[in-house]
Amino acid sequence: ETKTILVDKDVNKEETYSQAVEMLKNGEIVAFPTETVYGLGAVATDTEAVDKIFKAKGRPADNPLIVHVDSKETALKYVSNVTQKAEKCMDAFWPGALTLILKAKPDLFADNVTAGLETVGIRVPSHPVALNLLRQLKMPLAAPSANTSGKPSPTLAEHVYHDMNGKIPLVLDGGATAIGIESTVLDMTCEPPCILRPGNVTKEQLEEVIGVVRLSTDIQGNAPKSPGMKYMHYAPEAPVYLIEEDVRLIEMAIDHVHNEGKKVAVLSHHEFPSADFDFPLSAATLYGSLRKCDMIDVNIILAAVSADKQKDVAILNRLEKAADHKWFS
Ligand code: TXA
Ligand code: MG
Repeated sequence: ETKTILVDKDVNKEETYSQAVEMLKNGEIVAFPTETVYGLGAVATDTEAVDKIFKAKGRPADNPLIVHVDSKETALKYVSNVTQKAEKCMDAFWPGALTLILKAKPDLFADNVTAGLETVGIRVPSHPVALNLLRQLKMPLAAPSANTSGKPSPTLAEHVYHDMNGKIPLVLDGGATAIGIESTVLDMTCEPPCILRPGNVTKEQLEEVIGVVRLSTDIQGNAPKSPGMKYMHYAPEAPVYLIEEDVRLIEMAIDHVHNEGKKVAVLSHHEFPSADFDFPLSAATLYGSLRKCDMIDVNIILAAVSADKQKDVAILNRLEKAADHKWFS
């Protein structure tokens, strides 16, 4: 039912986008690739279209969407109280995998985009398909990740199709997304600015441009500022356990699971031939591997994380959520 258009080799062909643009203008929702993960887009001023996103994903209504625009200039039409630091971030990281939380100008977006907040998350994606789509549409696109809520974000058009077939009319297939995890979300409405969701743009890179930045990955805390952070995410069906990236420790864990007559998958920088399944660990492959875990016969998934908590902050954040903070013991 859901149609897929392969844009990979025709990235600049105008006709490739005209169908998507027409559907979006008619209040439909369309999935498209960004450099981070696939997004599920609706015109951000169209309340009914945006509502279709929440329905297709099964997304709680209190979790606001990210708005995608084609340039800094367009962004500035939709947000106010833009500090110097915020402009510096736009200049340094856009187009790219950084979402800025800024005050939304009143009554420009559909209410359900911002879930009633006065702020909005906004970014300029760098993927040529996303940019071409935005340039031809000439309207802002509200777009969360194009997965069913609670599933790993899609890094392939096939992932979108798997979750959304029959629920949306069109997927633009631009191949595998390069980064593989969602954008860094940086709240610019507080001082110092605060990372609400770590991503490919790191705290260190941000601090080089705007000075001190706080990192808040506190999802258990009271009233998380990023509503999405309170939900468990990215969970495959078999339980995921964190384990320290230590070859001997992991080998012992594999033996332990086997002794219970169970099958184990390991996600790690190292190879574990003794495991039943063995996935290399990187941002680009993480979600694809978690999805594969739902298609194989496995009882438990071990996710290896570095003892150094400053390393791979974004990957650690996603694995902690997939594991619901459980450690193997
Ligand atoms: O890389 C990405 O950001 C992808 C691609 C498609 O752009 N999009 C994405 O959207 O990951 P989504 O909806 O899955 O995640 C948006 C996150 C959620 O955690 C949400 O709570 C937070 O951004 N967010 C959105 N608006 C916010 C706001 N006004 N204040 C605080 N957090 C906000
Ligand atoms: Mg998401």
